[in-house]
Amino acid sequence: MKQHLIAPSILAADFTRLGDQIRNAEEAGADWIHIDVMDGHFVPNLAMGPMIVRACKKVTGLPLDVHLMVLEPEKMLESYINAGANRLTVHIETCPHIHRTLQSIRELGADPGITLNPGTPVEAIREVIQMVDTILVMSVDPGFGGQSFLESSLQRIKTLSNWRNEGLTKALIEVDGGIDASSIQKVALAGADVFVAGSSIFAYPAGIQAGIDQLRQKLSAIEVQ
Ligand code: DX5
Ligand code: ZN
Repeated sequence: MKQHLIAPSILAADFTRLGDQIRNAEEAGADWIHIDVMDGHFVPNLAMGPMIVRACKKVTGLPLDVHLMVLEPEKMLESYINAGANRLTVHIETCPHIHRTLQSIRELGADPGITLNPGTPVEAIREVIQMVDTILVMSVDPGFGGQSFLESSLQRIKTLSNWRNEGLTKALIEVDGGIDASSIQKVALAGADVFVAGSSIFAYPAGIQAGIDQLRQKLSAIEVQ
């Protein structure tokens, strides 16, 4: 049976209690912890330097999945990997020398990922999908949590899933933005493996455990089909 993974995004966490929130997510069955890095240039928001990654590393053994939404990410790879990033994803829009950047991530000891904005054609990453462990499909314009899932993402996930079926890549397909109880099943059915979720976990009214439980139930319902 296909394995589906849940990656809570701490962008939506309560930063006054970050350690507890991450521990709660781990106890509730999270698979990875997703950490968003924003530079105020590539995206209109600022968030999370290597110090936060280092702090997360102290409280969890889960893989830290770091999503770099920054210009010139090649200048920051080492500091995030040294801080504890296990998986490091860069945007194709920020990388003119993408083979070199992905190779550097692997040489520095992390699993490389490639991502792209909703307005970038999926063909833009086709040349490098055999080099990565993760393909991250942005299903909102990045920069903020709590935005609505863009339906056009489904066809993009299907295209990537087809490419994988044709043998062009073995990468996991990860989806980020607007993942909640109403979107997760169609995203999984389109072929995604990893589900990043911020608001629907950390801002879920009944709490983190209930938020993850709800997403997991939706996935279980289609896994038995
Ligand atoms: C958006 C970030 C996401 C964000 C998702 O730019 O990359 O990881 O935290 O938040 P939700 O799940 O609330 O859409
Ligand atoms: Zn993200």
